[in-house]
Amino acid sequence: MPMITFDGHDYDCHQGETILEGLTRHGVLLPSACGQGVCQTCISKAVKGKPPVESQKGLKDTLAAQGYFLTCICTPEEDMELAVADVSKGWLKATVIEKQLLNESVMRLRLQSEETLDYFAGQFINLKHPETELVRSYSLASLPDEGVLELHVKRVPNGQMSGYLHDDAKVGGSFTIDGPVGDCFYTDKDLDQSLLMVGVGTGLAPLYGIVRDALQHGHRGDIHLFHASLAESGLYYADELNALAQQHENVHYIPCVLHGEVPEGGMKGDIQQLVQTAVPQLTGWRIYVCGDPEIVNGLKQTCFMAGASMADIYTDPFV
Ligand SMILES: Cc1cc2nc3c(=O)[nH]c(=O)nc-3n(C[C@H](O)[C@H](O)[C@H](O)COP(=O)(O)OP(=O)(O)OC[C@H]3O[C@@H](n4cnc5c(N)ncnc54)[C@H](O)[C@@H]3O)c2cc1C
Ligand code: FES
Repeated sequence: MPMITFDGHDYDCHQGETILEGLTRHGVLLPSACGQGVCQTCISKAVKGKPPVESQKGLKDTLAAQGYFLTCICTPEEDMELAVADVSKGWLKATVIEKQLLNESVMRLRLQSEETLDYFAGQFINLKHPETELVRSYSLASLPDEGVLELHVKRVPNGQMSGYLHDDAKVGGSFTIDGPVGDCFYTDKDLDQSLLMVGVGTGLAPLYGIVRDALQHGHRGDIHLFHASLAESGLYYADELNALAQQHENVHYIPCVLHGEVPEGGMKGDIQQLVQTAVPQLTGWRIYVCGDPEIVNGLKQTCFMAGASMADIYTDPFV
């Protein structure tokens, strides 16, 4: 049973348990948010012992080489000593400058950070609750040169952070944020490549940034943007996306619903099947899929089976 040394104390870690789970069991609370190796809030440094390679997933090579790893996906193979690492640029203060409902359950928040945040459209930030240590990740729908950080937050029933952001956060109030994080963003490696983008619910947030970023870079290939929701009332930004499609003939916006009225220019049915039918052959395409983890993972497989290379599939599951 590997022993974990932290802050001068030794803790046992059960077989198959992650360091985050083990220390939590002992009442030691490390920073964490997603618990699935995505948000990087739980990053720590191994002072002694070697972290398994899988626990360094998504970290920059330079960080991995220095022994940084993610405690929430680290099942230790040997005794380790760790130190909580702050390798982010540091928590920044960000002030809420606008709050607006985009539909019955999605709130747009615009934040002004005290320092300019250098990010790629589509990356996400971690946001700390002003009254607790709770941290949650939210994707950036804005473009870096817009000067404000735009978030689309869905109200989750009994959700601690989303409830706070919908009900209690005030214009003029402030948060601390950290980031940017994530590798789901546009690069101009091939301006003629066809792009498939699928956003489920607020999975549209990163895509709203990515599609505009691609166009700013002069992307010439076709861009098919599917926005999926259970019903039409869950969709938003239809006017903005229709306008984008009118201004750029390579942009195709397809709103999709599972139930009820079919939105104008849209489709009805299971999003995985709709995408499969609309674009059955994806060899050479680049894919972006964001939102509900189950649908994102299903679509990732579907796109791979339709010919897309795994290296060309970028996903942000909102775990
Ligand atoms: C990389 C990344 C990017 C993200 N980007 C966005 C974004 O742009 N917009 C956005 O709205 N969210 C986004 N999320 C999700 C977000 O971080 C939170 O998980 C979400 O807001 C719920 O947090 P909460 O504190 O309100 O809910 P919690 O208090 O953590 O959860 C309350 C209850 O709701 C359940 N629950 C949690 N999340 C969901 C969900 N999505 N649907 C249904 N039930 C749920 C929990 O299991 C729990 O029972 C992202 C997540 C990740 C990892
Ligand atoms: S809590 Fe470990 S990566 Fe999110």
